[in-house]
Amino acid sequence: DDANVITHALAKDTLSRLRDKHTEQVAFRKGLVKLGRIAGYEVIDGAMDTEYVTIETPLTETTGERVKGLDDVVIINVLRAATPFVEGLLKAFPRAKQGVISAGRDEEAGMNESGEFPITVDYVKLPDIREEDTVIVADPMLATGSTMCTVLGAVLDDQPNPENLFVLSAVSAPDGLLRVSEAYPEADLLTVSIDDHLDENGYIIPGLGDAGDRAFR
Ligand code: PRP
Repeated sequence: DDANVITHALAKDTLSRLRDKHTEQVAFRKGLVKLGRIAGYEVIDGAMDTEYVTIETPLTETTGERVKGLDDVVIINVLRAATPFVEGLLKAFPRAKQGVISAGRDEEAGMNESGEFPITVDYVKLPDIREEDTVIVADPMLATGSTMCTVLGAVLDDQPNPENLFVLSAVSAPDGLLRVSEAYPEADLLTVSIDDHLDENGYIIPGLGDAGDRAFR
């Protein structure tokens, strides 16, 4: 398939709470934070090695292990729904550099025949990317993939190819995953759920509604 699905039981549990329409703002936001943390651990499992180091316990010298590459992480926050998601990721990658990009669908223009939305980009502030970096572009929703393709264009523009490039979402639609993987075959798509389909308005079904609104309103 085009994407890797995070199958950790706690990820499924948390996503199910997020889907529930009775989950109110605070619980919704906290759920996104929790999902971000779990996803961060999955990225570490999938992409990072450990190295042996010598450490001293209070009693003796012994061999320990450290995760390599934790200092070479760049997280891109796609405003606004990704903000709590990124907060969770930062628990796994406390020293990550962060980029911020405001990109959203022009809902008024609507979806075109090829299933894409025009994307409005308002604000872009990105750190330099280095070849050794693991770049994680986080957005809880990947619907048509229009937003993500635009964001990846901005993130990778004039930058060296990073060692790892993750596109991380909570819920995604098959069309969007396909669009992103065709445009950016070098990206590893990581999601908690591949949902059934997009409706005629480009909403993910069953989905979880509008993550930005549910977390912030
Ligand atoms: C949502 C979501 C993604 C985008 C996904 O953002 O957070 O950014 O839509 O849709 P796509 O894959 O079809 O492009 P929205 O535009 O609602 O902005 P918001 O996060 O500010 O609510």
